[in-house]
Parts: sequence; C-alpha cells; structure tokens
Amino acid sequence: MAKLLQINSSLFGDNGNSSTLANEFVQRWKAANPAGDVVVRDFAKEEVPHLDATRVQALFSPAEGRTTAQQAVLDYSDKIIAEIQEADAIVIGVPMYNFGVPSALKAYFDHIARAGVTFKYTDTGPVGLLNDKPVYIIATRGGIYKGQPADSQSPFLKSFLGFVGLKDVHFIYAEGLNMGQKDEAFAAAKTEIEQEVAA
Ligand SMILES: Cc1cc2nc3c(=O)[nH]c(=O)nc-3n(C[C@H](O)[C@H](O)[C@H](O)COP(=O)(O)O)c2cc1C
Repeated sequence: MAKLLQINSSLFGDNGNSSTLANEFVQRWKAANPAGDVVVRDFAKEEVPHLDATRVQALFSPAEGRTTAQQAVLDYSDKIIAEIQEADAIVIGVPMYNFGVPSALKAYFDHIARAGVTFKYTDTGPVGLLNDKPVYIIATRGGIYKGQPADSQSPFLKSFLGFVGLKDVHFIYAEGLNMGQKDEAFAAAKTEIEQEVAA
C-alpha cells in the first residue's frame, strides 16, 4: 500500500496557506492512490520539543545506563525517522517565517539528524542513510524570494534533506501572498501540484 507522509509546519493549522496547499496535494494524491495511507504530522497541533542540552545528551547516550527520560527522547526520534523510512513520498508545507523555516520544522529536523542512523561520515564525506523518495516542498511566502540570495529556505532544505539521503526534492512555490498576488500564486501552485502528482 502506498504511503504518504504529510508534514504541516504552519502556525495556523489548516488555515495556513502552506497547509491549504499541502492538503490540496494530499487530496490529489489520495485520488491517484485510493488505497493509499496518509500519515500526518501537524506542528500546530503537536508541539515539537526544542533540541536542548538534555535532549541532545539523550540522543548520544549509550543504551546501557540510559534513563527512562532519555529513552523517551530516543523513542520520539526513532518514531519520526521510522515514519520517513516507511513513506513512499513526503509532502511538507513550509511557510517562510523571518527568512527561515518555522522553528518547529527546524526542531523536527534536529530530531532526525542522527549519526549512524540517518547519516554517517566516510573518508570521502557524509553519506545519507535514509531511503531516497520524492519530497514535495510547498513553500509559501509573503514576498518573492525564489532563486534569490535572500531565499535562505530552499538551499537549507535541499542541504538538510540531501544530507540524510533525501535527494529527490521538488519545490512548489506560492509567493507574493502579501503583495496582492494570492489568487494567481495559488492557481499556479495548484497547477504544479496537479502535475507533480500525475508525474
Ligand atoms: C511570523 C511571520 C513571519 C513572516 N516572515 C516572512 C518572511 O520573512 N518573508 C516572507 O516573504 N513572508 C513572511 N511572512 C509571511 C508568510 O510567509 C506568508 O503569510 C505565508 O503564506 C505563511 O504561510 P502559512 O499561512 O502556511 O503559515 C511571515 C509571516 C509570519 C506570520
């Protein structure tokens, strides 16, 4: 059975522009995969813990002597990594907030980057350990930054996802949303979503 992992990182839940478009992607994907399964992570509905010193020590802790609290940190990380591994495709709604990705999405990534689990270093550099699969980024912005040096999101997302082995990254942009261009930007993004799901 085909499996899609949907990650929504808007602060505004289903009312967010990125969530609305990610939900559109999911509806089209479901129509194309009627028996498919969708797993949802919505950071407006569940808090992603910030990676602090206690949590990073837990991630590095040897199994022997690990406390229950440390094991819980590893269990959370293992679970979200397993969700990625088990998915055939991933769609991520990514609004631009203050020139970066939402802090909850960064915190989620911080729990995915695990030496020996999702990446390893070799003599010739880092190797990602996750099974590659298409990742669709629905990037929504109030302004227009695609392809410009001020777009600090897209290169970061490509670098991070590639680092853990996810190299097949597709970007769908809806920009200028605070510049009176929302209708046009949404229409163009929806066309791209349709094409990506059909591809
Ligand atoms: C806290 C906050 C910070 C924002 N920072 C930026 C920004 O740096 N650049 C930009 O183009 N738009 C910025 N915007 C506008 C959002 O990117 C835009 O409204 C986007 O559609 C939000 O997606 P969402 O509705 O899925 O949360 C910001 C909006 C918020 C709420």
